[in-house]
Amino acid sequence: MEKTLVLIKPDAVNNKYVGKIIAVYEENRFDIEKIKILIPDERILSDHYREHIGKDFYPQLIDFMKSGRVVAMILAKTNAVEDVRKINGHTDPLLATEGTVRKLFGTSITMNAVHGSATLLEAKREMNIWF
Ligand code: RTP
Ligand code: MG
Repeated sequence: MEKTLVLIKPDAVNNKYVGKIIAVYEENRFDIEKIKILIPDERILSDHYREHIGKDFYPQLIDFMKSGRVVAMILAKTNAVEDVRKINGHTDPLLATEGTVRKLFGTSITMNAVHGSATLLEAKREMNIWF
């Protein structure tokens, strides 16, 4: 079964949306293979977001991601990587389709509730970082 990494970001944890967000994935027939909650440190975040190092939004993104607890999950299903990206929606909640997790629970392009791996290769890399 295909696996992917999902993070529920500190905004959504603080807003108490963890249960509702997990319910969306379960309604879409994902199995939760692994799950944990943690405050990520700089090392884990700079590895996870290495493609964004040097971009203008990078410092803001790292400060936000280490500001509170993150739920990290490995979700499994046929076509998991692509399906999570569809369910999560556009990076900017304002541009996200109705019914997507970011439309429902995100508040800004930084505080957009969730992360989902972009490709199968990224999923493997990210699962090793967080688990
Ligand atoms: P993700 O990696 O979190 O699933 O989201 P994504 O692929 O849709 O977005 P990506 O381009 O990889 O950006 C990673 C995260 O950085 C924040 N971001 N802020 N201020 C900005 O212009 C900006 N752009 C991106 C978001 O939190 C995004 O999820
Ligand atoms: Mg990304």
